[in-house]
Amino acid sequence: MAEFKDKAVIVTGGAKGIGRGICLAFAREGARVLCADVDEKAGAQIEKEAAGLEGLIRFQPADASSSADCQSLVHSATQQWGGVDVLCNNVGIQPTDSYLPAHELSEEKWDRIMDVNLKSAFLMTKYCVPVMKERGGGVIINTASVQGLQSAKGVSAYAASKGGLLSLTRQLALEYAADHIRVLAVNPGTIDTPLVDEAARGMGLKKEDLVDAWGKAHPIGRIGQPEDVANVVLFLASDKTSFMTGEYVCVDGGMMAKGSWAGD
Ligand SMILES: NC(=O)c1ccc[n+]([C@@H]2O[C@H](COP(=O)([O-])OP(=O)(O)OC[C@H]3O[C@@H](n4cnc5c(N)ncnc54)[C@H](O)[C@@H]3O)[C@@H](O)[C@H]2O)c1
Repeated sequence: MAEFKDKAVIVTGGAKGIGRGICLAFAREGARVLCADVDEKAGAQIEKEAAGLEGLIRFQPADASSSADCQSLVHSATQQWGGVDVLCNNVGIQPTDSYLPAHELSEEKWDRIMDVNLKSAFLMTKYCVPVMKERGGGVIINTASVQGLQSAKGVSAYAASKGGLLSLTRQLALEYAADHIRVLAVNPGTIDTPLVDEAARGMGLKKEDLVDAWGKAHPIGRIGQPEDVANVVLFLASDKTSFMTGEYVCVDGGMMAKGSWAGD
């Protein structure tokens, strides 16, 4: 039987990239997935793509940084499917015009990155927890980043948002362990998504050249695919990890294992 048959799942930033991979993987395993995204065209596309899968994907336009939109997502899932079993706080932005030293970054840009990458996880959790409690438990999985563990120049807001998300993961895990709500995170390395296309454009590079160079920086010798992350998200959402909470898993081709002093 499909592993997530009839489970209710919400995925923020679910229409493209890693989120799209997560939505499709859950739907293949029988789940009913609410895909939340600002991109309505990509949302319509993923609904169509899911036709014929064991489960289904419903798209709902939503800005995950908006309290009203987050509340409406949880309301929709509850109305349609009686609650929420799995919440994937996947949405994240790293606009190329934010690649600046901290003193040159505008306050508006800082706030937007924090709102989309970090506040959205707080808001979605805030509205999901009561319905998860009513259902007797649930799983929350946050898409953080290896940049929440180690950093690079020019990403002050992004790195801080991802470090914050890892800290929030631990905090929520403690807060809701007794309610049978587990909270976990994945830290992707470089994954082949539109976010990487945007990075290549922002750096004035051809995507193939960037993928090649960044692939070599990962000990496994390639960048990841959305499915690489989705497979781990499904594993963490499953009962096979019922004794895990407050923890993160790096899906990074060995990048975090490598010291800066290490050779190839
Ligand atoms: N791709 C990578 O290399 C990489 C590495 C580490 C972490 N991540 C993280 O993985 C997650 C997914 O990244 P991705 O590469 O798939 O990104 P992406 O840009 O390819 O896709 C993100 C999706 O989020 C949507 N979105 C943007 N703002 C939104 C908002 N306010 N509300 C709702 N939806 C919104 C976009 O329309 C898009 O569909 C992010 O949290 C990102 O920080 C990505």
